Amino acid sequence: MTARPGMHTLTEGRGLLFGGDYNPEQWPEEVWAEDARLMRAAGVNLVTVGVFSWARLEPEPGVYDFGWLDRVLDLMADNEIAVDLATPTASPPPWLGHRWPETLPVDEAGHRLWYGSRNQFCPSSSVYRQRALEIVTALADRYAGHPAPALWHVGNEYGQVCHCDESAAAFRTWLRDRYGDLGTLNDAWGTTFWSQHYGDWAEILPPRRAPYIINPGQRLDWWRFCSDALLDHFRAERDVLRERTPGTPVTTNFMGLFKPIDGWAWAAEEDVVSNDWYPEPGSPLAPALTALTHDVMRGLAGGRPWLLMEQATNGVNWRPHNLPKPPGQFRLESLQALARGADGLCYFQWRASRFGAERFHAAMVPHAGAETRLHAEVRAHGQELRGLGSVAGAPVPAKVAMVFDWASWWALEERGRPSDRLNATEQLLDYYVPLWERGVSVDVVPPSADLSAYALVVVPNLFLVGDRDAAALTAYVRGGGVLVVGPFSGVVDPRAHVRTGRFPAPLREVLGASGEEWLPAPLDRPVRCRWSGGDGFDAHTWTELLAAEGAEVVAEFTEGDLAGRPAVTRHRSGEGVAWYVGTMPAPAALSELTGRALADAGVEGALPGLPPGVEAVRRGDVLFLLNHGTATVRVPLPHEADDLLTGSLATDHVTLTPRAVAALRPHPGRPHPGRPHPGAS
Ligand code: GAL
Ligand code: ZN
Repeated sequence: MTARPGMHTLTEGRGLLFGGDYNPEQWPEEVWAEDARLMRAAGVNLVTVGVFSWARLEPEPGVYDFGWLDRVLDLMADNEIAVDLATPTASPPPWLGHRWPETLPVDEAGHRLWYGSRNQFCPSSSVYRQRALEIVTALADRYAGHPAPALWHVGNEYGQVCHCDESAAAFRTWLRDRYGDLGTLNDAWGTTFWSQHYGDWAEILPPRRAPYIINPGQRLDWWRFCSDALLDHFRAERDVLRERTPGTPVTTNFMGLFKPIDGWAWAAEEDVVSNDWYPEPGSPLAPALTALTHDVMRGLAGGRPWLLMEQATNGVNWRPHNLPKPPGQFRLESLQALARGADGLCYFQWRASRFGAERFHAAMVPHAGAETRLHAEVRAHGQELRGLGSVAGAPVPAKVAMVFDWASWWALEERGRPSDRLNATEQLLDYYVPLWERGVSVDVVPPSADLSAYALVVVPNLFLVGDRDAAALTAYVRGGGVLVVGPFSGVVDPRAHVRTGRFPAPLREVLGASGEEWLPAPLDRPVRCRWSGGDGFDAHTWTELLAAEGAEVVAEFTEGDLAGRPAVTRHRSGEGVAWYVGTMPAPAALSELTGRALADAGVEGALPGLPPGVEAVRRGDVLFLLNHGTATVRVPLPHEADDLLTGSLATDHVTLTPRAVAALRPHPGRPHPGRPHPGAS
């Protein structure tokens, strides 16, 4: 097996990647020359071209017009700007839907979605597949060997869903592969409930709009199928590209923790993991959520570098009220991605559109032109990235893992559960925040991951868990790991059938604790708890009737029917320790709990005494400090370091104004006065 090309293929000889979506088809060719000049001045070395150009490339079925794209790619090659060449299949031309309406997606109520926007295709449509592969083939044939394309960008932000008859047929085929026979499917879906027994494959449908709650087994398989159907399409395009340009890596841009596509399954099929990420300006949770999302991307990339394909220099246009980004903000966000493993920092888009649905979306060159505050920042940022090339390729080492699983997410958030206030991604973020605040690096991993290298594994929620994965968590603890399991975990099996017995049934032994009732709490007041022998604290939303079965009770409920019953337990099992959290502790309490679990695991943050709002993360030998707060802070340093961003030497501290970043590399041979040099004996 030969190694596939990856991010390294792109960064070798180029260093960190910087650029954005480039849509020259929206502009007269005179503007292109200025674009190229400005790109060079800004240090742009990668542009994504052609994402929405199908109608320009193939104005009529089978009639191609590549001339303009030839000129764009030549221009980029002449300017030594690599091209991330897109297959244009995210937005089929009107002729496709007009002549073949069956390519248009149908929603769950049976309404067809029309052209006039974008993304209007049915993932299972054979006509769409055929037409898509034809344009992809033509594109790959034409540009194989052209010096500009360095990366393939397949489609755009996959996530389409279709409930049409062709999708129904594809769903049945998928189900036959999964279950073999109808009896097994009926068992898996529990169709004795509400008279849902299927006597013929032809009766099986996508979960179309129905009078009341739809079968959760059917829905779970539909989520699985929809992700797989799109992945199948992605693979088909990818294979055309790989055959013609085997040395060019292939990516498709994700959208963070995006529910419709199973990130683990998808990432395994691409050469480069890339993401589009638009933190919400003004949201206090944005820095941590963004850090988490970047860690998810690094996890999807198997710890290797990934590409931030799209971010915004300023306000977007698709929120109801689009707050701008203050000066320095997009740079801070870009460097945050770099610190968390991105080797490319790209934007949507290069030049702001004059027309179309995104006229009011920020860009690298705003409507007001290049002589602007914003473009000056773009240019400065591009240039400073040239000086950070030595960071490219470096890993972000982590001793803590957080487990996240799409199937569990899908299964958890179905209708008809004890509470819709307990959600997979919110739980993930809740447990992530106290780690992030301490500068503890986290790898996000699937339940099937090899956990043996981690000192602490946090499972904020794993509602659905298979026997093997549960056994692996147990073995991890027995072998010396520290495990923290959040509420409503281990509840169902992979068919979404409740595991009977005291919960969480498959983890009961390792946790040394179990429960018998899930008890959503009144929402108008906190759930009062107390650390054993210590202070009280608040939790909210969710409680469980638990009993310790060998575990130590770390915290108990103090009010109501649960008074005196366990809220948090800790169990020594084998060589390790397993925690169970049967409620949703408020942030301060979750932070306390996290601190104790970190102590069990012997894990410390990147830097002690971090001021609030300062993110600390190590990438390779560089310690990044990012000030997301509104105050100027002084951060003490354990040793002298060179700041790669300012070029100055930091002796015992750095001062960070709001939105400032330091990228500190230990200064060779300059021990901190009064402290032994790290590594000196
Ligand atoms: C992304 C998309 C881009 C553009 C951008 C605007 O979701 O891939 O094409 O629409 O959002 O923020
Ligand atoms: Zn369809």
